[in-house]
Amino acid sequence: MRLIAANWKMNKTPGETKDYIKKFLPLVSDLRDREILICPPFTSIPASAEFLKGTSIKLGAQNCYFEDSGAYTGEISIPMLLELGCEYVIVGHSERRHIFGEDDELINKKLIACIEKGIRPILCVGERLEDREAGMTEKVVETQLRIALSRLENHTDSIDIAYEPVWAIGTGVPATPEDAQKVHRFIREMLKSINSNFENKTRILYGGSVKPDNAGEFMKKEDIDGLLVGGASLDPESFARIVKSF
Ligand code: 13P
Repeated sequence: MRLIAANWKMNKTPGETKDYIKKFLPLVSDLRDREILICPPFTSIPASAEFLKGTSIKLGAQNCYFEDSGAYTGEISIPMLLELGCEYVIVGHSERRHIFGEDDELINKKLIACIEKGIRPILCVGERLEDREAGMTEKVVETQLRIALSRLENHTDSIDIAYEPVWAIGTGVPATPEDAQKVHRFIREMLKSINSNFENKTRILYGGSVKPDNAGEFMKKEDIDGLLVGGASLDPESFARIVKSF
């Protein structure tokens, strides 16, 4: 099933979350043929779980640590997320990589922990503008995927992937659907080649300046199985339009 995910980033208090969900639910209540996921900040996960109860909308987190518990000040573990009802977690978002210095090896440890503990990770990959201008997009994405998925080669069907070109995130300049399709195809071919049990269950999402008026064009592409939406997911009407754009 295609997956449309909201990444709220560092936005929305529990009170704001409640108002959002109250407005959002009636706008999407008739949709059964697509999966909708909301990833609030940690502190708004309990309020989200409360107000999404009894609906088919899924709940996810934006990050996790790979250890279950211990002296890791400021971190949140996977068992903590599972107990709150999270079924998904975003791993390796470009803001985690570039603002907080996460590298491919750390992302690999997080993914291994996700698979072991039974939460479905959404692994983010994507090139910077200078990589793209140097013709290195596929090389960069390939390196990110190979390291992130190392020792998980036979588990790729339990992982979703978001292709988010760094230069498209929050800039208002999305990739063209054609360019995104090419990278998505490349990612799918890579998954096929590294996983001998490949069942094609990985959804490959596009993220980066998705808006209500361009979402439908991305969703027409053969290898685009969903969207990961930042800024345009913060308004319930805008996100509902994206969810209903195909
Ligand atoms: P924007 O939709 O704001 O460009 O952000 C994309 C993103 O980073 C989603 O994870």
